[in-house]
Order: sequence, then C-alpha cells, then structure tokens
Amino acid sequence: MNKFLVQGSRSLDGGIQIGGAKNSALKLMAASLLAEGLTSLSNVPDIADVAIMVELLEAMGVEVQRTGHRIDISVPHEIEPVAPYHLVERMRASISVLGPLLARIGRATVAMPGGDDFGSRPIDMHLQGLEQLGATFTHQHGDIQAQAKVLKGAEVFLEFPSVGATENLLMAAVLARGTTTIENAAREPEITDLANFLSQMGALIDGIGTSRLRVDGVERLEPISYEVIPDRIEAATYLCALAICGGELHLENARAEHMEMLLRKLEEMGMHISEGNGGVRGKVTERLKSADVSTLPYPGLATDYKPFLVAALSVASGAGMVTENIFAGRFRYVDELVRMGAEIKAEGRHAVVRGVERLSGAPVRAHDIRAGAALVIAGLGADGETIISDAHHVDRGYEDLAGKLSSVGAQVSRT
Ligand code: EPU
Repeated sequence: MNKFLVQGSRSLDGGIQIGGAKNSALKLMAASLLAEGLTSLSNVPDIADVAIMVELLEAMGVEVQRTGHRIDISVPHEIEPVAPYHLVERMRASISVLGPLLARIGRATVAMPGGDDFGSRPIDMHLQGLEQLGATFTHQHGDIQAQAKVLKGAEVFLEFPSVGATENLLMAAVLARGTTTIENAAREPEITDLANFLSQMGALIDGIGTSRLRVDGVERLEPISYEVIPDRIEAATYLCALAICGGELHLENARAEHMEMLLRKLEEMGMHISEGNGGVRGKVTERLKSADVSTLPYPGLATDYKPFLVAALSVASGAGMVTENIFAGRFRYVDELVRMGAEIKAEGRHAVVRGVERLSGAPVRAHDIRAGAALVIAGLGADGETIISDAHHVDRGYEDLAGKLSSVGAQVSRT
C-alpha cells in the first residue's frame, strides 16, 4: 500500500467531509497530560501521526482508547516523562509534550528532533521561552533533559511567531505561578483551538486569537470532552484539486474563516467560492489564471498550502511567482513536478511557475505529507498515470485521501 496510482481527471463533483485538524488534535492530545483523569477528544482524524501520539502517551503510562474518531485519554497520577527518539524521529510534534510535562511534573526527557525535508528545524525558541519560565535544560546523548522545580510566569517575546513554541509555552504557562505574556505569539486557528481547550479545562487565558497571549497560572486543570476543529489544510488540498480539474465541490465542515487568504487567492485565480450548508463550496468552470503566492504566518497564506498551490499553478494560464517565507528548504517537491512536465524554476526561497496546458503522468516520490498530497492532485491534471511512491508520508496527515478524491469522480487508488 505504499504507492498512489492516479489517472488524469477532468472534473470533480460532489461533497467531501473534512476531518479534524491534525495539527490541533496532536497538541490537544499532548495538552491532556496537564490534567489527571479522563479527557475525551472527538473529531480526531484516523491518521498515522495520531497513532504515533497515542504510542507516545502510552509509553508514558497513559491509557488511550480509540473508538472511531473519538479518543479517550486516561491520564494517571504518575507519568513516565519520556519522549524517546524512536517516536520523536517519526513525528516532530512529539516535542509538544515538553511544556505539559514540565508544568505537570517538573521534569522531562525528550529526544531532540533532527532536521527534516524542509531543512533545519531548530527548537531554540521553545527552549528559550521555557527557560524564561524557570526551566533548565541539559543535552545528553541526543536527549534534552528538562527540569523545573517551579515554573514562574514571565514576559516572553518570540523572535518569530512559531506555532510549536507558542503552543509549548502556552501549555507550560497555564500551570505556572503568576502571569505569563507571550508577545508575537502565533495566531493559527490550531493555537486558538488549543487555547479554547485549555480555557475549558480551567486555564485563564486572555487575548486568544491575537499575537499577545496573557496567561494567569492556576493550581490545577480538569479533564474535559472537546471537539477538534476541522482541518483547513485538508480542505485546501481538495480546493486545489478542484482548481486543477474543474467542477464543483462542497467541503462539508470546512470553515471559511480559517482560510480566508487561501479563498481570496483562489478567487483571484478564477474559482467561485461560497459559504453555507456547514461548509465551503468551490466551483471552477474554466482554466484558472496564475497568481503570485507568498507564504506568511497566519492569517497569511500558510506554508502548508503552498505545495498544492504550486501544483495548481503548474496547469493554470500564465506565470506566477511563489515565495516561501517560513521554511527555506520547502521546495523539494518541485523537482518531482518538473518530472511531470511542469515548468518551474526554483531558487532559494522563490520559484517561478509557468503554467502548461496539461502535465504528463510519471513515477514520482513523496518527500513529506503535503508534498505527497500535492503530487496526487497534480496527477489529476496529468495525461496518463502518475505513480507516487513513499505514500506513507501522506498517511501521516490524511485520512483516506484516495477514497475521498475517488468519491467525487477522480481515479486515485493505492497499490
Ligand atoms: N523556528 C525556529 N526556532 C524554533 C521554532 C521554529 O527557528 O524554536 C522556525 C522554523 O525553523 C521555521 C519557523 O520558525 O522556519 C516556523 O516554524 P513553526 O515553529 O511555526 O512550525 P512548527 O510548529 O514546527 C507547525 C506545523 C507545520 C506547519 C508550521 C507552520 C505542526 C505539527 N506542524 O510546525 O505543519 O507547516 O507549523 O505553520 O503543527 C504539516 O502539517 O505538514 C506541517 C509541517
């Protein structure tokens, strides 16, 4: 099952149910460590990264039960505060247990994540921020040994609105003594979801959804039941598939307010978009026009959308300039698109994409979750068959990508 087989398609029509957000579910699972007892999360996607987070929680002595899209997490009084390398290596988001472990039990051993396909991905801002709250770190044999007798509120100014650093700091600050402010905090909808989740557990957080979060530490948090927000990146994948194939799609559960900049960009390219019936509807009646794309922290265009937009620009009319401002090395999939006949020149943080009428199906390789999904939707705009190997990367973030695309008329399967 490690390959996608994709046949070029002309039109997609129908409805696709958008699942829960990967990048929220993983952090809520980590945050559940903050309260002893039973936390229930609903709308959790059935994806490989969630399975890894389950493994990680279980390795710490937490009991986890999955029933469809619900996860029941029973956190015991005693936790083994270790995130081992064999799990961190498979999923960087494992680092998000650091803040909760420090806050709840004052120590943690977390393997240091390495670089990945986007290039170097440091965690210095996570560590510096937690140090300001009173944590100390030593590095030994590839692990970070973290200690904090007590965490004390502090003013933290992030150099860059890092999603992961904001989340780790927020999860640590909720149980710290006194007041913490996080300036230049990231504002992604998944952070708002985490802050809402923590607030329902009893945390005192002000400024949710803004770049200045103020947290008044409390003594303890209570476990709760909570529903994960829909996945805006999954929704973006299907909208860009529509941009490539034409037709009409209704994305059930998708929230327009979480992806305004993307919807504007697709409208600029010629897609008709409307909201309603509990979702977002897109309609494409003719070949789309190119546009320039530049990624920025939320509410800017997400770096995660970019591979799908590059796939869409590859078959749009005209040329578009693409600029990556978040991860310098996030252009590896371009070479794979070029194998499919795309006309793209990438250098440093920029790429120029000159649209061709149609791509040409070819064997290509997925290097990461979003790059893999982008190649699948690019295959829909190609003549003949595209075979995408290393499909397991895509399974990390998508529940049944092939099935959902096939249900609206595409020909996508797994070998
Ligand atoms: N950065 C630092 N130091 C840090 C932390 C980040 O220099 O301590 C830099 C990074 O190298 C990068 C930039 O800051 O250049 C932004 O990184 P950020 O911390 O915001 O990203 P992340 O938390 O590691 C999350 C998502 C990514 C998404 C980015 C940006 C999860 C599990 N991952 O990563 O999602 O691309 O935010 O929005 O939430 C994906 O879902 O496929 C994915 C990669």
